[in-house]
Amino acid sequence: MSSPADLPPVILRDAPFPSPGSVGHPDYKPGEREQLIGEIKDLLQQKNAVLVAHYYTDEDLQMIADATGGTVADSLEMARFGNRHPATTLVVAGVRFMGETAKILNPEKTVLMPTLQAECSLDLGCPPDKFIPFCDAHPDRTVVVYANTCAAVKARADWVVTSSIAVDVVRHLDAHGEKILWAPDRYLGDYVKRVTGANMLLWQASCIVHERFKAEALEILARQYPDAAVLVHPESPQAVIALADVVGSTTQLINAARTLPNRRFIVATDNGIFYKMKQAAPDKVFMEAPSAGEGATCESCAHCPWMAMNNLRNLAEVLRTGRNEIHVPGEIGKRALRATQRMVDFVAGKH
Ligand code: 13P
Ligand code: SF4
Repeated sequence: MSSPADLPPVILRDAPFPSPGSVGHPDYKPGEREQLIGEIKDLLQQKNAVLVAHYYTDEDLQMIADATGGTVADSLEMARFGNRHPATTLVVAGVRFMGETAKILNPEKTVLMPTLQAECSLDLGCPPDKFIPFCDAHPDRTVVVYANTCAAVKARADWVVTSSIAVDVVRHLDAHGEKILWAPDRYLGDYVKRVTGANMLLWQASCIVHERFKAEALEILARQYPDAAVLVHPESPQAVIALADVVGSTTQLINAARTLPNRRFIVATDNGIFYKMKQAAPDKVFMEAPSAGEGATCESCAHCPWMAMNNLRNLAEVLRTGRNEIHVPGEIGKRALRATQRMVDFVAGKH
C-alpha cells in the first residue's frame, strides 16, 4: 500500500497563462524594427554583452544572436555557452529558468533577460514548498530534476539534466543501482523510464505546449505523407512519442532534419524551431504536428506564450537600462550550482 507521501502531489499551475494579446511580435512602427536591430547590436558591443537565445524565441532575436557572436541553442548549450564566453554580461532570451541557470553557473557575471515575466508551466508546476518535502519523504532516491525548474528546486536536487542528456544521465545512475525521484515533466520522465528501465518515481507536471500535440491527428497526417519523418520533443505525450522517427531535444531535432535523407518532416515541438530548421535544411519541407486546435481557447498552438514575450523592444530596453537582472540568493545559488555543474561535467565526460 502506498502512503500519501509516496505519491507525487498533483500541482496545478499557480499563475495564469499570459493572455493572448500580451505576447507575440509587437506591431513595429515603420523603420522601428531596423532601428532596434541596429541599436541592439551596438549596445551588445558597448556593454560587453552577449545574446544567448533559445530556438523558440522570435526570429529577429535568433538572427541578432547569430550575427553578434552569441548563440541560439537548446537549454543545455545555452547553459554551457555563458561559461565559455568572455562577455561580462549574458543577455538570456528565453524563459526564467534559463536566465537562472545562466546565473547559477556564472555567479560573477551580470545576467539580464528581456522580460522577467516569461515563465514555464513545468517550473510553475514544481513549487519548492511542495517539492522539497516530497524529496524529504524519499531519502532513498537520487533526485534528478529537469533544467525547467527554479533555483530552489535545483538546490534540492542531486542532478540537473536537460532533454538532450536525460536518458544518458539516468542510464548512468541506474547502472550504479540508484533509484530516482524525477521532476517535473511527467512525459519526459515516463519516456526516460521506458527507455532506460530505471526505477523512477515521477512528479506530475507538464508542458502546456507539448502536451497538446495529438496522436490521432498526427497519425492521419503521417499516413497522408508517408515520405515524412516525424520529429518529436520528449515533453510530448507517450502516444505522440510512439509515432516518432526521432525523439530528441531541440538541437537533436534540428540535427535530424539536416542529416536524415527525408525531404519532408512533421515536427512536434514549438514552431519557433522552424527558423533554424529551415536554415539547417533549406531544401526540405517542415510541417507542424497537429495540436489541440487553432481556436480562441488554444493557449499554446505549438508556440510557447512565455517564449513569445521576448521581443526587440524589451531586449533593447534591458540593454539600455540594465533592468531585469537575474539574482539567485547566495546559499540557494551555491547548492543549485552543485547539481547543475554535475550536468555540465557529465557532458564534458567527467563522471
Ligand atoms: P530543449 O532543451 O530541448 O531546448 O528544451 C527546452 C524546452 O523548454 C522545451 O520546451
Ligand atoms: Fe516550458 Fe513548454 Fe514553454 Fe518549454 S515550451 S519553456 S517546457 S512551457
